[in-house]
Amino acid sequence: MPPNQQITELTLPLFDDFHLHLRAGNALKRTVSDASFWARRAIVMPNLQPPVDNFDLADNYRADIIKNIPAGRNFEALMTLYLSENIKTDTVKQAKERGIFAIKWYPKGATTNSEQGISSVQACYPIFAEMEKRGVPLLIHGEVTDTDIDIFEREAVFIDRVLIPLRRDFPALQITLEHITTARAVEYLLSIPEAEKTAATITPQHLLFNRNQLLVGGIKPHFYCLPILKCETDRKALLQAATSGNPRFFLGTDSAPHAQHKKENSCGCAGCYSAWNAPALYAQAFEEAGALDKLENFACKFGADFYDIATENYERVLKISREENTIPANLDYAEDKLIPLFAENKLNWQIKKN
Ligand code: DOR
Ligand code: ZN
Repeated sequence: MPPNQQITELTLPLFDDFHLHLRAGNALKRTVSDASFWARRAIVMPNLQPPVDNFDLADNYRADIIKNIPAGRNFEALMTLYLSENIKTDTVKQAKERGIFAIKWYPKGATTNSEQGISSVQACYPIFAEMEKRGVPLLIHGEVTDTDIDIFEREAVFIDRVLIPLRRDFPALQITLEHITTARAVEYLLSIPEAEKTAATITPQHLLFNRNQLLVGGIKPHFYCLPILKCETDRKALLQAATSGNPRFFLGTDSAPHAQHKKENSCGCAGCYSAWNAPALYAQAFEEAGALDKLENFACKFGADFYDIATENYERVLKISREENTIPANLDYAEDKLIPLFAENKLNWQIKKN
């Protein structure tokens, strides 16, 4: 590949998004259309209201997603179950044959719609044991929720207090630490022996921005997500990890739409909507690191290898071109408006939209 500055267009296979919120109902028109433009598969998060914590809910949700795939597109929704008290070891036993790809654990109170999550890791041990036995991946929102722990420390404390013991107790459990945000998480991932199946997803916002973007010059709710943006040292560590070619780190946007009025609110919701143009956002970050040549494996291969799903070529390819453009101020979102991540700002890259 030529040096970064000389690359004017990237032609890549469609991406896999290994962490995506599509929401439900009328929202699906926007979210499925946007994501399926550039993603051929996505792991779909189950934090709906009520949570997707049984097979019927997952089947209905999948059917609703499929109805919203624009004609001519090939998009596979990899369905997850929400680890609530309704998940039993029997659920885990049947999960694979019922088309469930993974189980997501939201510690109770950690983020959007996590009220039905489980707060005690010990209470989940029988479930984790069954998942380990059956090869069902565990996706983790890795933050403690103790009120005495500073919001900027919640991921690091989770790693030390919860994840390290969990990893030790279930050495064969496949674990993805979702949307990592800290140098500590990177260091942890790098410390794990290769035989242990542990990986991490990284979002575009955590590669591009630090907490100044959120807090300096006025509070910017559209940069608020959880885990919250951290400091520049953390961002640099994430960028280094994502562009290092280490297969433990792969793409998961955590694109998480909330209507404009729910974000611009005295108690605004957490989540950044990146599904509009996520590949362009990632290209911007990889370009900054001088590593555009590392984007393809991060976006199209490492995650698929980790989950042992095929990486065969699809007919459609994605073109990301070097073309200065401004991200729209807002998007239609059912009856509301949605503000995309980095709205009204310029990017050097654009994905070709049909
Ligand atoms: O910012 C976030 N938004 N983080 C999450 O963990 C959940 C997500 C959402 O569903 O809104
Ligand atoms: Zn998420």
